[in-house]
Order: sequence, then structure tokens, then C-alpha cells
Amino acid sequence: MPSPSSCPPYPESLVWASDRLRLLDQRRPPAEGVWIECRSLDDVVDAIRSLVVRGAPLIGVAAAYAVVLEEARLRSAASEKRRRLEEALDRLAAARPTAVNLAYAVGRMRRVLADDPPELGAALLAVARSMAREEEESSWAMSREGARRLEPGARVLTHCNTGSLATLGPGTALGVVRCAWGEKRLAEVSCTETRPWGQGLRLTTYELLYSGMTVTLLTESAAGARLLDGAYDWLVVGADRISPRGDVLNKIGTHMLARLARLGGARVMVVAPTSTVDPAWDGRAEGRIEERSGDEVWRSLGAGDPPPGLRIANPVFDRTPAEAVDLIVTERGPGRPGDKDFAHILGL
Ligand code: MRU
Repeated sequence: MPSPSSCPPYPESLVWASDRLRLLDQRRPPAEGVWIECRSLDDVVDAIRSLVVRGAPLIGVAAAYAVVLEEARLRSAASEKRRRLEEALDRLAAARPTAVNLAYAVGRMRRVLADDPPELGAALLAVARSMAREEEESSWAMSREGARRLEPGARVLTHCNTGSLATLGPGTALGVVRCAWGEKRLAEVSCTETRPWGQGLRLTTYELLYSGMTVTLLTESAAGARLLDGAYDWLVVGADRISPRGDVLNKIGTHMLARLARLGGARVMVVAPTSTVDPAWDGRAEGRIEERSGDEVWRSLGAGDPPPGLRIANPVFDRTPAEAVDLIVTERGPGRPGDKDFAHILGL
């Protein structure tokens, strides 16, 4: 099994510094490495909305630390403080709709409030720290398990950015790729540019080059054509929400690539911690897909101002039905949708 020592080094993007949360501004690499200091929950809400911090597991951990910051900042009496913290938790939960890790983190912090511990700040910090540790341990477990499933000489395509910038530890899908590379199992690693924000173009290429790996960058449409031609053995992606059946919400383009992977003979591996599983999701996409400003599409290619009257659609996630997924890897191991131990793999 790949060991931490065989996994190449990776960059990090979140540091807790007792009175503030330091976040690498993920809109900037590789051109710039700018760190942003968050001192209040609303600073973190802004960072989540604006994609300073992104990637489902990292959003969850950042959200947990945001509540610690807010508790320390509020000077009110205990009952008033609890009321204001509850309101702050609602603002936090509404920052982005798709990654269930945000709701998961808010839920855990709400339970601390409900327990009413004598040292509220210390109790919130303990939970935030343990969430960070759990995500890091999960990341290692998934990365090693997923890497074992890639046969020697495998050719892999990945989408979006799912590495150490998007979580704690080596990553989810990109952690698998990283560990498999460390074990010298991979013949080819390609990534999509991931329109419109370029998480693949900017962040995945940055991470893989940092790790001393070789990577081929493709536009999404070129990746689709290559998949259809049989150029890959595996499509390896992360997730923002997984239903008990194994339906997956992930970065826009995942569904299209998964279908083309099947047509070209490649298998589809989804790698995500159990904090990304939503036991209450019925697997339908309605209301879950974040729509962002059309400006992001237009301006990402440096086209100046959009012409008046132009309508631009910018849904940034899509749904891949369970039947288009071959394997889901969580920290509990790998499982196929429909297997009898699938619920256990998803932590249900
Ligand atoms: O909009 P983003 O960049 O937050 O979207 C990220 C993704 O879709 C990732 O694939 C997912 O969060 C898994 S990250 C480990």
C-alpha cells in the first residue's frame, strides 16, 4: 500500500493561528501566493462566497474555525452570545449551497452550542481541530486506498482541483493520483482546465508540478474527445455531495466526462470523505446546484465587459447519477453503488 513517505510533498492552503484563520487566496495561484487573514465569521463567509477558500472538505474546516473566531469576537452576555452565534451559523450555512461539508460543519458546531459547555470557546475549538484532523486522516486513507485500485501503467484523467489546496492532507481524487504517482503506477496524468474559474488549469497543474509530477492540461472538450478515443483508463474526481444511492454532485463537467469515460472504456472513480455524504439527499439535483454570475464566464477569457443584453448561464456543479459511477472511495474504503456494504462505505 502507498505510504505517506512515498507520496510526494504538497502545498497547503489553511493555517489556524489562534486568533485568526489564514487562507491561501485560491483565486491567485500560480501567478501569486497571497494569504488572507480572517478574523471574524463574516470574513470567512466572504472568503467562501468569493472562492478564496474552496473545495468541499476545506470549506467545512474553514467554516468550523469561523465559528471559533466569532465566539471569541462576541463580547455579549452568555444568552445573547448564543443567539448571535445561532444567527451567524445561519449566515455561514448560506454561503454556498452545493458542498454538504458546509452544512456538516455547521451542524457539528450547532451541537456544541446546544450542549452549552461551561467553556464554549474551548469546546468549539476542540471540535474544529478534530474536524481538521479527521479530514486529514481521511484524505490519507482515501488516497492510499484509491491508489491501490489503479493498476500499474494506468492513464488517469482528473477534473477540477481536489488536492491539498481543497482539503487537508494530500487531497481526495488528486490525493489518489499523487499517491499512485509516488508508487510509480501511472503512465499518464491529465487534468481539465475546469471552466470558468480554472481550478484545474491554475491549481491542479500548480499542485502537481509542486509535487514533481508530470501533467497534461486539456480543455474540457478536448478531454471529452480523448476519453471517447480510449486515451484513459480512469476518470478520478471528487464530490461535493453524495446521496445514499451513490449519486454525485461535483464540479460542472463531471457528468459529461463520466458518460464519455464509459463510452471510451474508462472507469469512473469518485473520491470523497464521508463528511461529503448527505443521508437526507434524494439524489435529485433541484435546488442544489449553485448558479454563479455570468461575469465569471465572460471575464475569465479577458473579453472585457459583456455586451448589454447578453444572457450568460453559469451553473457550477452538476449531478452524475449513481449508475454512471464505477467506484466510490471514502476513508472507509472503496465500494460500488449497489454493493451490499455500500452504506457502510458511505458511513450510513
Ligand atoms: O467550486 P469549487 O472549486 O469549490 O468546486 C470544487 C469541486 O467541485 C471539487 O471537485 C470538490 O469540492 C471536491 S474537493 C476535494
